[in-house]
Order: sequence, then structure tokens, then C-alpha cells
Amino acid sequence: MSMADVFVFAGPPGSGKGTQAKLLAPKLKVPHISLGDLLREAVRSGSKVGEIAKNYLDAGKLVPDNVAIDVAEEAVKKEECRNGFVIDGFPRTLEQAGLFDRSLGKLKFNLKKVLYIDIPLEEILKRLTGRRSCRKCGAIYHLTYNPPKKDGICDVCGGELYQRHDDTDEVIKVRYEVYKKQTSPLIDYYTKAGKLVYINGAKDVSEVFKEVSKAVAS
Ligand code: AP5
Repeated sequence: MSMADVFVFAGPPGSGKGTQAKLLAPKLKVPHISLGDLLREAVRSGSKVGEIAKNYLDAGKLVPDNVAIDVAEEAVKKEECRNGFVIDGFPRTLEQAGLFDRSLGKLKFNLKKVLYIDIPLEEILKRLTGRRSCRKCGAIYHLTYNPPKKDGICDVCGGELYQRHDDTDEVIKVRYEVYKKQTSPLIDYYTKAGKLVYINGAKDVSEVFKEVSKAVAS
């Protein structure tokens, strides 16, 4: 990886963006930024951003663009991102993508690839209703596909596993509709920019990661 390359993970909810980003970032020795994790952290901490974001997250709707952009910009300006980073869940609208392009240019980052992971809706429902996440370190599990060794306990740090508020059938469907309407136009945007790589997410985590690694190296 040359200096300051940026990789974006995009795709519908539950496609495995977080899972793959958590594998890729250590391999490239760069930080992983997850907009969803940053927003959930803001809600937990009761910050001003968290107060605004809470209702949107619970309803499965996108937080306003200016909030998402501020949170993302603050994260990527940190010293630890100096040599590049992997980001998932941002950008998520055309407005965010345009502003992100400008910020990356100003900060001398190179948007290398947008890894677009796709899976069908039936699989999304199975994945999200079975997901469990660690409260402490953010590790991602699945009750069937990737269970923790001990029920309810994180293998990595021993933290407590929890189910996200927005992983109910009803909210997952809203998130999917929001994705189709507001985020899927990015496929065209990044295809035209020559940045998009299509990844078939309906395979084992390790198989998907092989495709991701191939795309990153090419
Ligand atoms: P966010 O947290 O980003 O949610 P999301 O996009 O819906 O994506 P998920 O985290 O649900 O899924 P993922 O693709 O990361 O899948 P994962 O790897 O966990 O955003 C949440 C909310 O924040 C939004 O609704 C919005 O309100 C707000 N927000 C965030 N960004 C925003 C922005 N830019 N602008 C405005 N608002 C924003 O995998 C899912 C499950 O499947 C896990 O259990 C995992 O173990 C399992 N799994 C993964 N890969 C596989 C595989 N290959 N085979 C079998 N199981 C697998």
C-alpha cells in the first residue's frame, strides 16, 4: 500500500462490511473507521451528536448528512490515519460522497477502491437477526455462522455480547429500503469514477476476504 490510500466498504446492511473491514485494516496496518460504531459510541456517551443521532439509529434512518460528514471528517483527520485507513458505512449518500471526495483531496488522501459487497435480502435478514457484537471491543459474531466459544462472551476481550437495537425484522426492512433509495446510487457514482469493485458477499467470510484481498492488491 502506498502512502495514504483509502479503502471504502459499501453495501446493504448486513452484507459484511464491518466483518471484512476488521480483517483488512490489520492486514494493511491502518485503522478501521466504522461510521455506525462512531455514532453508536456517541449515543452511549450522551454527546451532542449522540443526542441528535439516537432517534435516526433506532428508526433505521440515516442521520443528517452534515452530522455524518462532521463525524467522518473528525475521525479521518486523526494522526493515526496519516498513512491511510479503511472506512465502512461512509459515504452513504451522493451528498456525502461529493464532500468526502473534496475532503480526501484537501487532506492528500487517495481513494483507492470502493469495495461494494452485495448479498440478497433473505440472507441479510438471517445475518442481522443472528448478529451479536461485543460491547467492549466491537468484535462481530453470528449465533450460527460465527458463534463465540462461550455464549454471550467475546472471544477476543471477554466483553459482553449484545444485540443491536436496530437488528429487528421491522427496522432491518427500513434500513434496506433506505439503502436502496439513498445509498445504492453510489454504485453508479463510483463505477463512473473507476473506483468500484463488486464483491459477492454471499459466501463464507474467508472466501469473501480472498476476493477483497485480490481487489485491494490489483
Ligand atoms: P451501520 O452500523 O453501518 O449499519 P449497516 O450499514 O446497516 O451495516 P451493518 O453494521 O448492519 O452490517 P455490516 O455490513 O457491517 O455487516 P457485519 O459485518 O456486521 O449503521 C447503523 C446506522 O448508523 C444507520 O442505520 C444510520 O442510522 C447510521 N449511519 C451510519 N453511517 C451513516 C452515514 N454515513 N450517514 C448517515 N447515517 C449513518 O455482518 C452482519 C452479520 O453477518 C454478523 O453477524 C456477521 O458475523 C455475519 N457475517 C458477515 N459476513 C458473513 C459471511 N460471509 N457469511 C456468514 N455470515 C457473515
